[in-house]
Amino acid sequence: MLELSHVSGGYGSSQVLFDVSLSVPEGKIVTLLGRNGMGKTTSVRAIMGLVPTRTGITLNGLSLCGAAPDAIARRGIGLVPEGRLVFPTLTVHENLVATASNRMKRKNPWTLQRIGELFPRLRERAQQYARTLSGGEQQMLAIGRALMTNPNLLILDEATEGLAPVVRGEIWHCIEALKAEGQSILLIDKNLNVLKRLADYHYILEKGRTVWSGDRAALERDGELVNTYVGI
Ligand SMILES: Nc1ncnc2c1ncn2[C@@H]1O[C@H](COP(=O)(O)OP(=O)(O)OP(=O)(O)O)[C@@H](O)[C@H]1O
Ligand SMILES: [Mg+2]
Repeated sequence: MLELSHVSGGYGSSQVLFDVSLSVPEGKIVTLLGRNGMGKTTSVRAIMGLVPTRTGITLNGLSLCGAAPDAIARRGIGLVPEGRLVFPTLTVHENLVATASNRMKRKNPWTLQRIGELFPRLRERAQQYARTLSGGEQQMLAIGRALMTNPNLLILDEATEGLAPVVRGEIWHCIEALKAEGQSILLIDKNLNVLKRLADYHYILEKGRTVWSGDRAALERDGELVNTYVGI
């Protein structure tokens, strides 16, 4: 579905990505791992068209390079960005409907009703301004907003970062429910223990390069090497 093949890119004259390759097959959960500053968020920005790239990124065989961010979103990629970035002066309800659509004509699309079932707390707070939500609630809103675009591929950049264990558990529970539905997900997170259980395939970035990749069994087998790369 999503393919990155030897992608390079960066910010102005400062190159951050040197050789990033990864692929997210339909219906799978794939992780992008690596220590702070290794280029995970920059890779996500490259996929979304927020960091310019010349070649190497395709979605269902068609290039995404050079496309505008809104065009890329319309092609079916939903992003839950690092730091949440909900619209602070809109209510929960307004945040959810602001970018909602079902362009891919998904059967059983995400609706306000279904988001309310997934995150009852958002339903209770529908009329509350997003800036007044707790961190965990903002994260749920960011996920809900991305789901309301009915993406073929969902990208979560540090969705559990800085959350209390209980709230983190709710987010993991949500991701498990999405997996059961067959949602394709690219997941960036530092909780390796949960990712081991949840994800189908893993990639590790080191200084803007894909230096290791493997499935669940390979992750077990190469545990020591993986730990040196992700710094645990
Ligand atoms: N807007 C920017 N302009 C210039 N350099 C940037 C910009 N954003 C990030 N960088 C640099 O790019 C490198 C990779 O950063 P990136 O945010 O992609 O890392 P990351 O793997 O997501 O890290 P973290 O785990 O801390 O989120 C870092 O050296 C960072 O300083
Ligand atoms: Mg990051």
